[in-house]
Amino acid sequence: MERQTATIRKVTPGCGAEVLGVDLANPGNSGMETIRAAYRDHGVIFFRDQTLTPEEHIAFARRLGEIEINKFFPANGEYPEIAEVRKEKEQKVNIGGGWHTDHSYDAAPAMGSILVARELPETGGDTLFADMYKAYEGLSDGLKKTLEGLKAVHSNAHVFGAAGAYKSSDQASGFKGENMVGEAVHPVVITHPLSGRKALYVNAAFTTHFEGWTWAESKPLLDYLYAHAVSPEFTCRFEWREGSVAFWDNRATWHFAVNDYHGEKRLMHRITIGGVALQ
Ligand code: SIN
Repeated sequence: MERQTATIRKVTPGCGAEVLGVDLANPGNSGMETIRAAYRDHGVIFFRDQTLTPEEHIAFARRLGEIEINKFFPANGEYPEIAEVRKEKEQKVNIGGGWHTDHSYDAAPAMGSILVARELPETGGDTLFADMYKAYEGLSDGLKKTLEGLKAVHSNAHVFGAAGAYKSSDQASGFKGENMVGEAVHPVVITHPLSGRKALYVNAAFTTHFEGWTWAESKPLLDYLYAHAVSPEFTCRFEWREGSVAFWDNRATWHFAVNDYHGEKRLMHRITIGGVALQ
């Protein structure tokens, strides 16, 4: 049986929306239509009071596209499709604790990620999101024109490689694939494959430099873009509760897992869905 008609409520004027009245374990065709439209229009969408089992999480993801198994993240032993975003109470470093978008180092970056809360700290552990359509639209015409001629290199060796950030941290034992690192080149401004809108596509975690520029030449402009893109009016903050789910578009948003709950455990299940090469 389908639940009542799903509705969409914006979280902030600039970023994110909540989808109400849909059961992700049994969304029905009209629920899926609302979810797809909300995802296309808002970039990141949130759901409350869900009861998704891991099997239902996987089934929901499969209705949205092909599941992409993460090469690096700690895997859930029972369900290889599910990556674990885990911080034990003894650990200091969290996963995703900086502005980024998932898998931008791949030639066809992931379309989206569906994150389900499994164990939460009493307070804290929120996730911040930033809207890359708004970030692009907020630039001057002059800078937009400059960026439209540029491509950027996205790499993951410094994050997931043998000498990378996670392998040098207290998260090291969970991470794998350090010999599977690589890089890709994407336009700095993309035309989003679903919405047709222009979005800024660089991020602080994985973009290393503009193609044909040195790292030193690239840094000042990249730093400007990173600061601009997280202007408060382009961002929102999601406070997790039991039963919360977030589904974000990696081509239209960035996210940042806030690491403010030392001494408590946080466990999230993430499934990532494959995407297409970006133009
Ligand atoms: C991630 O970066 O995918 C994880 C986000 C979070 O745990 O809030």
